[in-house]
Amino acid sequence: MDALVLVSGRGSNLRAICRAIDDGRCEARIVGVVSDKRSAAGLGFAEARGIPTRVVPLEKGDDRDQWNVELGDQVASLNPELVVLAGFMRILGPPFLERFPGRIINVHPALLPSFPGHNGPKDAIKGGVRISGCTVHIVDDGVDTGPIIAQAAVPVLPDDTPETLHARIQVQEHRLLPEVIHRITLGEIELDPLKIKAAYADPSKFLSVPNV
Ligand code: GAR
Repeated sequence: MDALVLVSGRGSNLRAICRAIDDGRCEARIVGVVSDKRSAAGLGFAEARGIPTRVVPLEKGDDRDQWNVELGDQVASLNPELVVLAGFMRILGPPFLERFPGRIINVHPALLPSFPGHNGPKDAIKGGVRISGCTVHIVDDGVDTGPIIAQAAVPVLPDDTPETLHARIQVQEHRLLPEVIHRITLGEIELDPLKIKAAYADPSKFLSVPNV
């Protein structure tokens, strides 16, 4: 499976995917890493690994549709079969989404549909929940609203800050995202919303609750 990863920041999920590929836990090839931010640390990691990178910045006042078209052009030029949002902090619009139908997934640091948006861990603490986690889902044109593929849960501890909770969630993201990519490669997960719903008939295969 030729996968392209979109990042805006640190890129720890990108590193986790690469680690899983190196260890033979994820049968995929990263054909490119694309960012909206020149400063994204994930870009440097990709370059050091010889992965092609592209930057498509979005500045204040830029035409969003045009940016979506340019981003789509750059991504398409690398011929991915799967587009993985791993800490990509922009909302993608129809001019991008329509070019890669059913081929875009995202990892989010909360148990969706609770706490979508930019501050999953902070909002979970504010919401007073005792369990949070991460979600891998198909991307649609809403904010973290697409069909859920897989989730992993972690406890929210009494003294948690957004940072400590996020760190605990990321341990699970780093395990779950490469696993989902691997299962997509194997054909065990089809990125078809109807089939994803049917998958819940066997939750043990798709809901991963780690020992905590
Ligand atoms: C990840 O925790 C990811 O779930 C989150 O950004 C972080 C990026 O970390 N994404 C979102 O909040 C999207 N709504 P990373 O750059 O170290 O992979």
